[in-house]
Amino acid sequence: KEIMPDTCHIRPLKRSDFHRGHLDVLRGLTHVGEISEAAWTERFDWMKRCNGTYYTLVIVDESSDASKSIVGTGTLFVEKKFLYELGTQGHIEDIAIAGDMQGKKLGVKLIQALDHIAKEVGCYKTILDCDPKNAAFYEKCGYGKAGQEMHHYY
Ligand code: ACO
Repeated sequence: KEIMPDTCHIRPLKRSDFHRGHLDVLRGLTHVGEISEAAWTERFDWMKRCNGTYYTLVIVDESSDASKSIVGTGTLFVEKKFLYELGTQGHIEDIAIAGDMQGKKLGVKLIQALDHIAKEVGCYKTILDCDPKNAAFYEKCGYGKAGQEMHHYY
């Protein structure tokens, strides 16, 4: 079985990552739309100002062209609650590995890194929603099925 290539490393999303293919990786997950660098940077800065709320990681493949060197991304969103003695709950969101890099253990490494941050910032648990076809992947990452996703589009 393949292991994470040693040309790849995980790090936090940087303000200069627009040109490294961040949005193209996300396009493998769902609709993204056409987003200018200015708009992307404004959103990046907004998230940064929400100190300690958004932790977006990227996987960078040093062996790829710079413009497509981001081959994976995912976000931990940290929710502060009144419940559970002012508890903190993690949400894993927007996980995507580039199509040609799937199956090399990058996804599991990314989830492990986000789980590590969640524990470090004091989350008592982390939850996520996924397509049923990805449930086996998250089970391999230590997640268990719970509840039922509901949504309401506006
Ligand atoms: N079904 C069953 N098993 C799977 C699946 C799957 N869909 N995907 C991976 N696995 C298994 C692998 O076979 C591997 O098993 P092993 O340890 O026995 O060898 C293990 O899970 C780890 O796999 P990785 O190689 O780490 O998986 P990968 O890097 O390909 O990442 C991911 C998986 C994130 C689902 C990737 O395929 C992807 O980006 N898909 C498209 C976008 C997507 O669906 N993202 C998830 C959205 S849900 C959310 O964001 C909360």
